[in-house]
Amino acid sequence: MSFSAKSGASLSSWAARWWWWRRQPSCAAAAPAWSCFGGSWSRPILDMSYSRHFLDFQGSSIPSSMKKLVVTKLSQNFREAVTLQQDSPVPLPGDGDLLVRNRFVGINASDINYSAGRYDASVKPPFDIGFEGVGEVVALGLGASADYTVGQAVAYVKAGSFAEYTVVPARQAVPLPSVKPEFLTLMVSGATAYLSLKELGDLSEGKKVLVTAAAGGTGQFAVQLAKTAKCHVIGTCSSDEKGGFLKSIGCDRTINYKTENVESVLRKDYPEGVDVVYESVGGKMFDLALNALAIKGRLIVIGFIAGYQNPTGFQPIKAELLPAKLLKKSASVHGFFLNHYLSDYKMALQHLLKMYERGDLVCEVDFGDMSPEGKFTGLESVFRAVDYMYMGKNIGKIVVELPHSVNSKL
Ligand SMILES: NC(=O)c1ccc[n+]([C@@H]2O[C@H](COP(=O)([O-])OP(=O)(O)OC[C@H]3O[C@@H](n4cnc5c(N)ncnc54)[C@H](OP(=O)(O)O)[C@@H]3O)[C@@H](O)[C@H]2O)c1
Repeated sequence: MSFSAKSGASLSSWAARWWWWRRQPSCAAAAPAWSCFGGSWSRPILDMSYSRHFLDFQGSSIPSSMKKLVVTKLSQNFREAVTLQQDSPVPLPGDGDLLVRNRFVGINASDINYSAGRYDASVKPPFDIGFEGVGEVVALGLGASADYTVGQAVAYVKAGSFAEYTVVPARQAVPLPSVKPEFLTLMVSGATAYLSLKELGDLSEGKKVLVTAAAGGTGQFAVQLAKTAKCHVIGTCSSDEKGGFLKSIGCDRTINYKTENVESVLRKDYPEGVDVVYESVGGKMFDLALNALAIKGRLIVIGFIAGYQNPTGFQPIKAELLPAKLLKKSASVHGFFLNHYLSDYKMALQHLLKMYERGDLVCEVDFGDMSPEGKFTGLESVFRAVDYMYMGKNIGKIVVELPHSVNSKL
């Protein structure tokens, strides 16, 4: 399958330079950081800036304590599980680490799976939460200063982003041209859609692709990537406003499951079935999507959000019928979990960043402006943002902005 229909970006584009830079062994080792971006100046090999940064850290621009969210009790009820700590010590970066001041943090459906201890049963509270952030480097270890410097905009995927500051290993960070919320949408949501469809979707021109929760954080990318592969895309959602957004990003047929019967629509409009399902709702939606598969159809299990608020984390499906249903159609069901595809993660991100830079990808951000108490601003609003997602209100990726409370020299 090929996602990129249009011409490639030139090496002068930011994303291409980023990718080229990450591949240079000299950059990963000891070369002056900015010389690899093709700039006319380079820093001395003996990096004196480190001591200045460290002194800066000891000075007044970075406080000694900060706010962060901590899981204090295992529960899928986010408000019960999570506590806002007001005066946690700001962590110190180790040799290969960056200290990132978070500006935007992403809400994920699985934040409540994480707070329920479903990711790693051996981890006991208290523990940090929040999967991803975008911000700027405010201090760093000497090892990390080979590739980074204070002021660099970065994004990362690492537990503990629901905090004013997060220590991020430099190798896990992605340098960015600027601190923008759109970049955050690609880190988990975009990469999940790209890698799962590339590895498991077997997309090609004319195939019919059903995306459930299509107007959400990851659904929006599944729709657009399937369209880029010249597929016919059907998207489910819960409101006409979401349907309008889906149309705007190229979705061929939207189904508002609150006003239309998804099963009947699929049976009537797609009597031969759908070739691929990007399924992230679970329960009844899983069952009807499975029934709608074409011969040799593929259903990719991305998640099952409809069950996450249950104590078990699941909603029942008609599993006993599964073998017969698959056999009758030579169909298949595939699970996809981003953590198992990390070897391809940088490639995926590079691809998505190039698409975004070329204007070929909409990265819709929902700051909750239309939510009852307005925009999600500050760590306190993470609770509201999680509620908003579980009310099914969001269009695009839910992002919380963390305004800077400290006067910075940066
Ligand atoms: N496998 C992986 O590695 C991976 C990575 C990222 C995300 N995911 C999965 O992808 C799915 C979407 O996650 P996301 O973070 O991008 O969230 P999201 O799609 O931005 O938000 C959730 C959306 O799901 C829809 N939904 C349908 N039934 C729901 C229900 N019973 N309760 C709440 N929402 C419901 C709602 O939209 P409508 O009702 O309008 O459709 C809601 O807006 C989740 O299942 C998540 O676990 C998996």
